[in-house]
Amino acid sequence: MIMDESEIIKSVADHVREKFQGEGSGHDWWHIYRVWQNAKTIAASEECDIFVVEMGALLHDIADHKFHGGDEEIGGKTAEKILSTMGVNEDIVRSVVYIVNNLSYSKNINNKRDLPIEGEIVQDADRLDAIGAIGIARCFAYGGSVGNEIYNPEIKPDLAMDKERYKKGKSPQINHFYEKLLLLKDMMNTDTGRQLAQQRHIFMQNYLEEFFAEWEGER
Ligand code: NI
Repeated sequence: MIMDESEIIKSVADHVREKFQGEGSGHDWWHIYRVWQNAKTIAASEECDIFVVEMGALLHDIADHKFHGGDEEIGGKTAEKILSTMGVNEDIVRSVVYIVNNLSYSKNINNKRDLPIEGEIVQDADRLDAIGAIGIARCFAYGGSVGNEIYNPEIKPDLAMDKERYKKGKSPQINHFYEKLLLLKDMMNTDTGRQLAQQRHIFMQNYLEEFFAEWEGER
């Protein structure tokens, strides 16, 4: 059976949704869904292959290496398997696999990897989901899942974080804003991504101001 692009997108979305069912650490199906929507919004103002963008967004976390004994290529391999069974053209499979393998924050922390425009869009879309109102919710949901404190004024943010320290991260969740979330707006690839990130950034700044005021009983 030959599927057209919209049928493939639907089929991949169903597959991913099933695989991520009930995952509670912030990397659940609805994260994928939001990244997919963000990616389409950004792609609307870029010259790009929208099919590759959508596939990249849907598959970008398909096998997060954190949960697979550190195999950094597992995401690409899994994406390749899924797409090959659907008869997707080899060049497109290769583009998507490259994006899936080179997108993540931790892989780009020490040196930035080169991505095609489709990858830049998915990366922006993924980063947007880490900031703003959604980002705040995810930050605390993740922290709770690994037993981190919300905030501890005695533990200062680690601003010189490299890849190894980032992966170990055991600091309170408020520090995560200073260590990562507030830095993301300056890492966006596309104009639309930057604009959306700016709005979300301001929302987080206001949130933190309120948080610290409430912490000291001032509001
Ligand atoms: Ni993601």
